[in-house]
Amino acid sequence: DTHDPTSLRTPIVAVLGHVDHGKTSLLDKIRGSAVIEGEAGAITQHIGATAVPLDIISSIAGDLVDPDDFDLPGLLFIDTPGHHSFTTLRSRGGALADIAILVVDVNDGFQPQTLEALDILKRSQTPFIVAANKIDTVPGWDPNEDAPINDTYESQSDRVRQRLDESLYEIIGNLSDEGFSADLYWRVQNFQRNVGVVPVSAMTGEGVPDLLTVMMGLSQRYMKEEMEIDVSGPGVGTVLEVKEEKGFGKTVDIVLYDGTIKEDDTIVVGGQNDPIVTEVRALLQPRPLAEIRTESRFENVDEVGAAAGIKVAAPELGDAMAGAPVRVVRDRDLDEVIEEVQAELASIAVDTAEEGVVVKADTLGSLEAMADALDEAEVPIVRAEVGDVAPRDISVASTAEDPKQQVILGFNVDVLSDAEHRAETDDVTIFTDEVIYQLVEEYDEYVEGIEQ
Ligand code: GTP
Ligand code: MG
Repeated sequence: DTHDPTSLRTPIVAVLGHVDHGKTSLLDKIRGSAVIEGEAGAITQHIGATAVPLDIISSIAGDLVDPDDFDLPGLLFIDTPGHHSFTTLRSRGGALADIAILVVDVNDGFQPQTLEALDILKRSQTPFIVAANKIDTVPGWDPNEDAPINDTYESQSDRVRQRLDESLYEIIGNLSDEGFSADLYWRVQNFQRNVGVVPVSAMTGEGVPDLLTVMMGLSQRYMKEEMEIDVSGPGVGTVLEVKEEKGFGKTVDIVLYDGTIKEDDTIVVGGQNDPIVTEVRALLQPRPLAEIRTESRFENVDEVGAAAGIKVAAPELGDAMAGAPVRVVRDRDLDEVIEEVQAELASIAVDTAEEGVVVKADTLGSLEAMADALDEAEVPIVRAEVGDVAPRDISVASTAEDPKQQVILGFNVDVLSDAEHRAETDDVTIFTDEVIYQLVEEYDEYVEGIEQ
């Protein structure tokens, strides 16, 4: 093989799905299997992500993955916790993730956030597979810890197999209703054209070898060229979250998808107003094997390379926005980098009208998705911003002449208590939801109510 693996970046895998369908459990299982293999140290915890190197993938996948067949360094999995909008996972020109795993509970089937995830995967044209999770809950299931799906399937009774088949075909049918031609993964010849469904259990590890094999195969075959980047150039990334951190003030959790970021680097970050130019004080990583999102004690690192999740501590980050671009300046011209960040922000900016509803969302990506959905529903927007519903939003909404527009639509945001109060006195109606299409539906019903 002619490829130098150090010049290929790790593919970014987003793990999506409805609340409680088992996204985190699946990643925990992969981490746990590495611990059992005696290789716990090899898996690095990132901010909001888990990096699994190729040799670990191969030891978990057993016979299914021969490391000699691959030259990608491994996979970086990004967990998207329930209620946290995975629409944040955007990057220059589209999806941040190279590939995705859509987790669907075999008993619960398709749910609102499953449909929302599919919609986003469709729009961003992200290749994905479906993990049909919790197969161990099929009544009568006889578990075979960590076994490939074929082995464990063969060892089940006819009745159990039939029940699992029914659930799997229902998922395949649901995918087809949404316009995706899908099949059980071992029947899929061309993963670019068809969606592969992999039965798994995050609890028993059954099917996990298959899942990892399919993911490696997908990224190796279809993504390799995109993975060839200048791994040592100035870093490019996306803000996942803006967070207050004891001793550091406001910090940003970022996913770096290109190049490197180092301590003392000058960076440009997309802000509520102007791009923020600041200097990296510290790069923080969770301590090994600690829980990703609950971890409060960090380890300082001097430098990280793509793909990675990392917390960046720097002054002046108060105005940074989730979903906004981050760029390292290093030996480049500062003004040029600022322009790039501005251009990228402008490309996500929402077209507003003179009259319309007020829209608030948790991230730039979700704001963009909301704007798209409202555009389709022919609902004009007067103001669109990232952030919680605040009193000044009420002021804007209350000036609308049409009662249909004295409305605020909030996606994945809170309503500040003084805003709630103002809304009552000013006759402004606030809708909030964690699923975009439901939010639009609620608004439609409201409008119908007024028009009757
Ligand atoms: P959010 O982050 O809240 O969106 O949920 P999630 O998708 O990360 O789900 P999580 O991994 O937290 O799992 C939800 C519940 O389902 C937990 O109680 C898990 O133990 C359980 N669970 C997850 N996977 C499996 C599985 O394969 N089998 C069984 N029996 N239970 C599972
Ligand atoms: Mg979770």
